Amino acid sequence: MERNALITGGAGGVGKLLAARMVLEGYSVTIADVDAARTEAVAQEIKAERSIAVDLTTEEGAAAAVEVASGETGKLHAIVNCIGLSPKANGKKRPIKDIDLAEWNLVLGVNLTAPFLVMKHAWSRLEDNAGSSIVNFLSLVAKTGSSGPDEYDFGIPSPAGAHYSASKAALHNLTMSAARELGPRGIRCNGVAPGQIGFGMQGSMNKSAVARIVSQIPLGRPADPEELVEVVLFLLSNKASYVTGETIDVDGGWIPD
Ligand SMILES: NC(=O)c1ccc[n+]([C@@H]2O[C@H](COP(=O)([O-])OP(=O)(O)OC[C@H]3O[C@@H](n4cnc5c(N)ncnc54)[C@H](O)[C@@H]3O)[C@@H](O)[C@H]2O)c1
Repeated sequence: MERNALITGGAGGVGKLLAARMVLEGYSVTIADVDAARTEAVAQEIKAERSIAVDLTTEEGAAAAVEVASGETGKLHAIVNCIGLSPKANGKKRPIKDIDLAEWNLVLGVNLTAPFLVMKHAWSRLEDNAGSSIVNFLSLVAKTGSSGPDEYDFGIPSPAGAHYSASKAALHNLTMSAARELGPRGIRCNGVAPGQIGFGMQGSMNKSAVARIVSQIPLGRPADPEELVEVVLFLLSNKASYVTGETIDVDGGWIPD
């Protein structure tokens, strides 16, 4: 039977690689992303079943993405929220005092509200007791917060602003709530928390900040995005059939716990 999967932020760095692998794994993949040109190009390149260019921070956008992804059967089996936004100013994060309300709302909208809206609209479409599963992309900084101005190292030299870390911490909490609410239906919800990925968002970062971060990582390098993809595929699969409400850190030992 058709296994329908929705990948939000599916035209982004990690989203595209994940979508390509899920097509090969036999899922009917729908890519949903706000960037229309990249969405179409990626969908064609990886032979995604469906795609939709949409702003997922809106109720209508999230509902439309879920509708498209549910295909003819009207059922969904996998959702991966790869959507994310980490604004920088000249490759550096802004300190709290310089984050204006519009940027705060945008980051919370993309990183927290969009996954909430997608899960909300998918609620009745997710098939019960059929291995259905959600994975949300969190971040290491959900645990640590941001690290202060770039000139200082208070804690880890975080590349992300305080709005980003706060949004991912809230998404972590939402992931736990969803796991509890969906558990009785046999549907799982987990998180994956990357440290630094040598890809995607990293492109917007200042090079010396990247070098400083890598010097803090015991494995001595950023993650290869495929290393994230493998963990997501595990969480979606029946190999993880008794794992829900968890977050797996994929951070090269940056913050061991
Ligand atoms: N790259 C890293 O180092 C890193 C580290 C920790 C966590 N993460 C998280 O991993 C995930 C994937 O990261 P990435 O590097 O592939 O990011 P990316 O920036 O390459 O991709 C994010 C995608 O989200 C899309 N998007 C943004 N706003 C949207 C909206 N309103 N509606 C629909 N789509 C929207 C973008 O167009 C983009 O394609 C993100 O959740 C990110 O926060 C990344």
